[in-house]
Amino acid sequence: MKHIRNLTLATAICSVLLSCQEKKAESTIGADAAVEARVEQILSQMTLAEKIGQMNQVSAGGDVAIYADALRKGQIGSILNEVDPVKINEYQRICMEESRLGIPLLVARDVIHGYHTVFPIPLGLAATFDPALVEEGARVAALEATAQGIRWTFSPMLDIARDPRWGRIAEGSGEDTFLDARMAEAMVHGYQGREADTTSMAACIKHFVGYGAAEGGRDYNSTFLTERQLRNVYLPPFEAAVKAGAMTLMTSFNDNDGVPSTGNTFVVKDVLRGEWGFDGLVVTDWNSMGEMIAHGFGVDRKDVAEKALEAGVDMDMMTYGFLSHLEELVRSGAVKESAINQAVRNILRVKVLLGLFEHPYVDVTAGDAVQYAPEHLAAAQKSAEESAILLKNDGVLPLNPASVRNILVTGPMADAPHDQLGTWAFDGQKNHTVTPLAALQARFPGKVTYVPGLTYSREKRERFDDVMAAARRADVVLVFLGEEAILSGEAHSLADLNLKGSQSELLAAVKSAGKPVVATVMAGRPLTIERDLPNCGALLYAFHPGTMGGPALANILFGDVNPSGKTPITFLRTVGQAPLYYSHNMTGRPYNNETLLDEIPAEAGQTSLGNTSYYLDYGAYPLFPFGYGLSYTSFSYSGVSLDREVYGKDDVITVSFSLANTGQYEGEEVVQVYVRDLVGSITRPVKELKHFERVALRPGERRSLQVQIPVCSLAFVGLDGIKKVEPGEFQLWVAGDSASGDPLSFKVQ
Ligand code: BGC
Repeated sequence: MKHIRNLTLATAICSVLLSCQEKKAESTIGADAAVEARVEQILSQMTLAEKIGQMNQVSAGGDVAIYADALRKGQIGSILNEVDPVKINEYQRICMEESRLGIPLLVARDVIHGYHTVFPIPLGLAATFDPALVEEGARVAALEATAQGIRWTFSPMLDIARDPRWGRIAEGSGEDTFLDARMAEAMVHGYQGREADTTSMAACIKHFVGYGAAEGGRDYNSTFLTERQLRNVYLPPFEAAVKAGAMTLMTSFNDNDGVPSTGNTFVVKDVLRGEWGFDGLVVTDWNSMGEMIAHGFGVDRKDVAEKALEAGVDMDMMTYGFLSHLEELVRSGAVKESAINQAVRNILRVKVLLGLFEHPYVDVTAGDAVQYAPEHLAAAQKSAEESAILLKNDGVLPLNPASVRNILVTGPMADAPHDQLGTWAFDGQKNHTVTPLAALQARFPGKVTYVPGLTYSREKRERFDDVMAAARRADVVLVFLGEEAILSGEAHSLADLNLKGSQSELLAAVKSAGKPVVATVMAGRPLTIERDLPNCGALLYAFHPGTMGGPALANILFGDVNPSGKTPITFLRTVGQAPLYYSHNMTGRPYNNETLLDEIPAEAGQTSLGNTSYYLDYGAYPLFPFGYGLSYTSFSYSGVSLDREVYGKDDVITVSFSLANTGQYEGEEVVQVYVRDLVGSITRPVKELKHFERVALRPGERRSLQVQIPVCSLAFVGLDGIKKVEPGEFQLWVAGDSASGDPLSFKVQ
């Protein structure tokens, strides 16, 4: 794994530089002339019906016999949701031996944050700000899944999400375009491998596009993103993933400005295919072709099948629209066979590149040994350790393992093996999951008292006498709060983001016992925890940390690991602030710390309350800004300087600074560089992340560091619709979060 990490760091810098160059690769997915010749040779032998069959994806029904006949007739190009390698081999055998042309199936699965070994949810992975580690995790997922015959995953999800009510916020990298793009590249490289072999699992970047901007944070809701917002905020992670070689892409459920993505010619045909030259496979989301009827965008399945093909979709997941109607549409002249040929080429190209024709089968005797391999568990644990964010610490952490005699463990998430895996963890098994309770009991035999207080997050209780009695006897109380896996993920949006049930009351109750209280929150989103902060001495935000969450958290709580995760999303004080994100545009009336309602004495009557952009009751600031996270040590930035005052458009800005560990513990800081473009042809964000990296320092150590920011990475799509750097004045910050540091100025001419 070591060399992969170095490689990734080197390519991370290159990818930023490369992303400035406009030259399109011949094949974005790495097909050469030999691959193309092979594709053409297969295509030339296919009947129209066989071609259309390749464009059809179905969900496995348990019994192989259900689809045997369709497979023999070549009516299925891909199957999803079969994880039994014996059955997968049987599906492939029917295709290879009993169908006329012997075209293997693409076997797909939602392997979203690990297969059997489950990693933190993607939002948690983003909190690591560590693309190399995320790549390692995606490689582990690919090793485990391909060992059982799965060669295509519907991941990574690249939807920028700025509204934590949206349940699928758990599945992406959060609010920021730059962070999302780096995570996208890492996951694509991890799944597909740097070298193609039988452990390569095709990545599927999804959901194209804008799905995370669902109005009101309600899943499947409409979005209203302008072309400029798409190009400046929502499309760049997809473009980065395409450049990284992502083999497939999924269209989204939402309609943007009235056009459902599965029928959106502009985004699929014009941007993805035309501008980026993508020659991989485009699949619909589950029945998203059929749902265009519900959207009122088509009259029937035939109509939406025609629209999806016209938009540039190659494969239909679960609508059967292509299978049932394309032949008739070709015969009637409504659809050209050349459009179908193009779609089939895109599908066959992926199958050839994955080596499926040579290796359609999986070794059923070898797969089990790969699952939960010790190095996989170690990578999952390291990911969970790097993703946990310390949001508050009054000095109670780290706990001293030598001095604890009685640890009280309480809360609904302390021993919830299924729930700590998070959403989309179908294949992670409970009995392999190590909960915080199990990890603490193993580490401190006989010293852990467990009184759950609440057995699940939504439970309501008036009194906590049992917990209180135990708290009085304990020397420290560890409270594990949050939300179960089912409360986030697809279709699981929430309108209230406070801790559910009586969890806040449980925390307040243990606080009153007078013992040190440490809260750990496991959740699929940033919950609104402001009211809970005063009731704990320290708060660790772990998202859903996966299989090895327990040992990872125990290591952090007891000081073996210094927390280093940073918020990949703004934490709100109250849900009414949503959407609130750090890179909002400059307003004409920026908030200036005006008076809030509760600062005005009642007797003051009707007082003027300022006239800037804020909420009278909550101001304009979040609870925690983007990029924020504490450590057991402290870091100090000094001597930030730029190599020049004025740069040309092709220059690279060199930022120099010194970072010191000024505390008592060894630690890692996520250094962040933000830029503001002061004046543009359109209003610009107040800050945009342009670089981040982890720096490890021993206590007292100081390092001089240099960061390179290509000027071309400051480009955006302005008023004329062209992406370019607009000359003028800029500001730049080097800091440990998006709200700190003092700006330096520079010019671009
Ligand atoms: C989800 C996709 C997923 C697909 C297949 C859909 O409901 O939106 O993200 O990949 O199902 O399971």
